[in-house]
Amino acid sequence: MTTTGRVGAAARARTFPAGFLWGAATAAYQIEGAVKEDGRGRSIWDTFSHTRGKVAHGDTGDVACDFYHRWEDDLELLSSLHLNAFRLSIAWPRVQPQGRGAPNQRGIDFYRKLVDGLRRRGIKPAITLYHWDLPQALEDAGGWPKRETAERFAEFAQIVATSLGDSDAMWMTLNEPIQVAHQGYRVGTHAPGQRDDALAAAATHHLLLGHGLALRALRDTLPDGGNVGIAIDFHPVRAIGDNAREAAAIADAEQNRLFFEPIVHGTYPRAARAQILPPAHLIAEGDMELISAPIDFLGVNYYNPHYVKIDEDQGRPAGKPAKVGPSATDYTPPELPRNALGWPIEPSGLLDALVAINEETRSELPLYVTENGCALTDEVDSQGEIDDAERSGYLRDHLDMVHRALKRGAPVHGYFVWTLLDNFEWALGYDARFGIVYVDFESQRRIPKRSASFYRQVAQANALESDGENGLRQA
Ligand code: FCB
Repeated sequence: MTTTGRVGAAARARTFPAGFLWGAATAAYQIEGAVKEDGRGRSIWDTFSHTRGKVAHGDTGDVACDFYHRWEDDLELLSSLHLNAFRLSIAWPRVQPQGRGAPNQRGIDFYRKLVDGLRRRGIKPAITLYHWDLPQALEDAGGWPKRETAERFAEFAQIVATSLGDSDAMWMTLNEPIQVAHQGYRVGTHAPGQRDDALAAAATHHLLLGHGLALRALRDTLPDGGNVGIAIDFHPVRAIGDNAREAAAIADAEQNRLFFEPIVHGTYPRAARAQILPPAHLIAEGDMELISAPIDFLGVNYYNPHYVKIDEDQGRPAGKPAKVGPSATDYTPPELPRNALGWPIEPSGLLDALVAINEETRSELPLYVTENGCALTDEVDSQGEIDDAERSGYLRDHLDMVHRALKRGAPVHGYFVWTLLDNFEWALGYDARFGIVYVDFESQRRIPKRSASFYRQVAQANALESDGENGLRQA
């Protein structure tokens, strides 16, 4: 019997469930620009990026991808890629320039237009309320280490839900709160650039409380209580050798469980060290109940696992402290491939994270991959194209893991690639290109990379086909 390659390929297609969301994720400060327009207030990232030595090359988000003015063309781009979901964040200082009080209507109007534009194109908005751009005025009043910030955040959530609540969106309270507490307040590599364990531990609790209070506000305001979750970054921890087990358990507690466990179980992880955990006097009666109120889905951001190996001479984990977590080190087995930023690439970590989360939540919590992507040093070739075969391969391998997780019973309902456009990558500025669409920051011209065409074909087919399909062999 003979079969053509095509039939063989189709037979091996890995199809995703009907209604699966194929999305791209973004964040306001990374793409919008227009930082002084229409009454927007100052955010901690404006201050931080304008402080010498904080961001590579002194880059700022002042213009970024100019999405504030070009959003309509960018929504067309989403349509042309056959995506049916778009993750965006709301810049708090556009809506409340000082972080409190009456809303700024022009800020709200921008998001209203955006959400309506998505809806017109049949694209589901996935709205993150806090993707790191705290109004500077709230930081001046103490920022996330202060309980009041959590209360202000709930008011902001209520305003946004009132204005955009009829939009059939997915809602996320916070993005990667550990990065806010750790990079923002413990090691100072992100805004507001504080370096203090006690501030970071207090911020940890108040971010979680902010989630809980905002969740309650959204439940009270959105039609039918809304569809609400949170996006947390997961880094499966791999111990190399038996003597690394204890250190790995600590790293897992401090990196993964610090935010996951309070949300799903209402407890802080016991294995975390005392200086990482919020002190008891900050935890008021009822806080843990608010924090662990049921959510409708969990957003999983995944980039890489963490390895823990004990350095025999030093008697402690090998490698320098990594920026991303209190006990993470940069030790990585040398054989692992890396992206342009040196982050290890290990697709199986995504499978491990999804399966472990699903076991712990007893298959009761719908999951979305809310971020996953690869930084490369993309260049435009003589044909005017960007041949990022490595990114297509990265996406294929990680989507394969999502498909395997589904087969193992994890209820994954969608995948959002990080990211649509090359953009302002926080302290790394514009060097780190994560987009499936290239941005020439001089002209603001957008050029879809080859990986965009790969991703479009996967989204259109709702399936990963064998390598010759989805355009990958040609990539
Ligand atoms: C995540 C952030 C996102 C982006 C990617 C590369 O930690 O949520 O904004 O910077 O990393």
